[in-house]
Amino acid sequence: MAKLKILTGTDNKILRTKSVEIKHVTKIAKLIKDMKDTLDAKDLGLAAPQVGENVRMCLIRLNPSTKSETLVFMINPKITEMDKEKEIGEEGCLSLPGLWVNVERAKKITVKFLDTKGKEQILMLERLNARIIQHEVDHLDGILMVDRAVFDANAGLR
Ligand code: NI
Repeated sequence: MAKLKILTGTDNKILRTKSVEIKHVTKIAKLIKDMKDTLDAKDLGLAAPQVGENVRMCLIRLNPSTKSETLVFMINPKITEMDKEKEIGEEGCLSLPGLWVNVERAKKITVKFLDTKGKEQILMLERLNARIIQHEVDHLDGILMVDRAVFDANAGLR
């Protein structure tokens, strides 16, 4: 079991670099295993740059805290459709510990990716699942949630 070190900070160079596409799925077998070991039970997602690798891959926990909870690796994920309807929700990030910000995301998305066997998959996701994907794909483009933070006028009233 290899738990990888998670990079932190809004100005970390690797976190701020646009990651490259993965050409050979077989070459990333170790990274896949190590990322799985690194994601704690409560974590919703992890992108390769967060563990120091600027390649386009992320691990997503779909349907968290439900009976249909599953871990899905997405290699070269591409959001092909984004609903015009958006919603604001609170996000956290393993690379920005202790920070919670409101981010506006598309409510529904379609994402195309390769699975760990190199087979193309397409998923239509909504709400929290869609939010996690948008957050992780941002990591692959060097974007952090703080870049998208929105002011929530109701925040102080809760
Ligand atoms: Ni994150």
